[in-house]
Amino acid sequence: MAKVKEKFDNVFELDLGDGIERIGTKSLVPNKRVYGEKLVNVKNTEYRVWNPNKSKLGASIINGLKEMPIKKGSKVLYLGASAGTTPSHVADIAEDSPVYAVEFAPRIMREFIESCEGRKNLFPILGDANKPDEYANIVEKVDVIFEDVAQPNQAEILIKNAKWFLKEGGYGMISIKARSVDVTENPRVIFEAQKEIMEQNGFKIVDAINIEPFEKDHMLFVGIWNGQ
Ligand SMILES: C[S@@+](CC[C@H](N)C(=O)[O-])C[C@H]1O[C@@H](n2cnc3c(N)ncnc32)[C@H](O)[C@@H]1O
Repeated sequence: MAKVKEKFDNVFELDLGDGIERIGTKSLVPNKRVYGEKLVNVKNTEYRVWNPNKSKLGASIINGLKEMPIKKGSKVLYLGASAGTTPSHVADIAEDSPVYAVEFAPRIMREFIESCEGRKNLFPILGDANKPDEYANIVEKVDVIFEDVAQPNQAEILIKNAKWFLKEGGYGMISIKARSVDVTENPRVIFEAQKEIMEQNGFKIVDAINIEPFEKDHMLFVGIWNGQ
């Protein structure tokens, strides 16, 4: 019989008795897989195993994220939804609160819309995260912005969106892919530069997680927004 322990609000440690560290979320849509994830039933509750190899947020939790800003009841803006792997877990966590998820590739958006089926709090938005004004009529003020877009101007995109949508004292979480910024530069130099851009533009960095071995040359930064 699997054992379940709540690690963060609505994020669970799942012990399947094989010594492997696993996390999961309570499925908002029982019996539905989004990306082939394992489903585990414990005491009439279904959990979806959160694969850290397919989700940078999942990898960050396994690698020691100190505090999880996304909680039950959090309003979230998610930038770079892709086909919905991580957004689906984020929606499970937020539970009855909206998760607005922006993706700019129409083909991927079609897959994403399928994975949103049944998750009534997950709102797909076809849009460019560089142009927050284009979805300002849909998105409200949020508690957390999570960004995973793999673009050269990753930190600027977060700041632009924070100015439009992030509540004062809200959290910005950003997965930085060093190679998207500059393939030739040392990743550490890139991480430091992206962090500095965030700090100079209204974020106080409170956590930084290297997500190797799940993803090479990726860091996740967590910052608190001063509302400017
Ligand atoms: C690494 S994937 C995201 C994976 C997803 N976050 C997950 O964990 O399930 C990056 C996604 O960002 C999208 N993207 C890149 N630039 C974007 C932009 N400016 N606006 C919106 N989406 C963007 C890409 O099309 C791609 O689907």
